Amino acid sequence: MTDKNDPAKIMKQEVGKAAADYVKSDSIVGLGTGSTTAYAIQYLGDSLNNGELNNIHGIPTSFQAEVLAKQYGIPLTTLDAVDYINVALDGADEVDPQRILIKGGGAAHTREKVVDSLAELFIVVVDSGKLVEKLGSNFLLPVEVIPMAVNPVMSALEKLGGKPELRMGVKKAGPVVTDQGNLVIDVKFDNIGDPASLETKINNLPGVLENGLFVGVADLVLVGELQYGQPKVRQM
Ligand code: 5RP
Repeated sequence: MTDKNDPAKIMKQEVGKAAADYVKSDSIVGLGTGSTTAYAIQYLGDSLNNGELNNIHGIPTSFQAEVLAKQYGIPLTTLDAVDYINVALDGADEVDPQRILIKGGGAAHTREKVVDSLAELFIVVVDSGKLVEKLGSNFLLPVEVIPMAVNPVMSALEKLGGKPELRMGVKKAGPVVTDQGNLVIDVKFDNIGDPASLETKINNLPGVLENGLFVGVADLVLVGELQYGQPKVRQM
């Protein structure tokens, strides 16, 4: 369980709240996945319930986001009902100085990429520990793949210079199964020199649904950090 004085938790809360403050009444909001975005969803729900915001509809990027939105009273819609998203709020696992992201720590990157890419304004919410000079420094690159293609995709990822491993469940026997019923291969790349090219090459492998490189998608990155022990939010 996380301590309420845990600095990581405090940074996530602050940055989640800062992102929720960007949402205006009468808008369609992409609801991201993960522990940081969960705070943004909570604050959005609070603002709706206390009347500071009106007429918000969320488009969830995962089952987790859908559950949280319902819990905090945010009405939901779908991309069948609307063809635009005003703003999306979502976390990331790594952010480089060009605002290129690695996402997919929650195995939700496929739906996240659909929603975040469609948003007029995509706001990334991270704590300062997510900032890296080189992508792939701390986090493996997630690749969602249909189950029957796992072995050939693993071999192809090795040929691209990666070290792939199938993501296994925690407190669940066997592999992680995504909200779409697929599997996730996490890939260690020692040096992601050209993220745009790698994103395309991986997505061109037959059986791959989507990978966690988000190139040119993020509009604004809000970073939660502690300055002299006090939580602060800054724009990257
Ligand atoms: C889920 C994601 C998350 O946004 C990412 O893993 C960050 O999560 P957290 O805020 O819990 O660190 O990409 O697929």
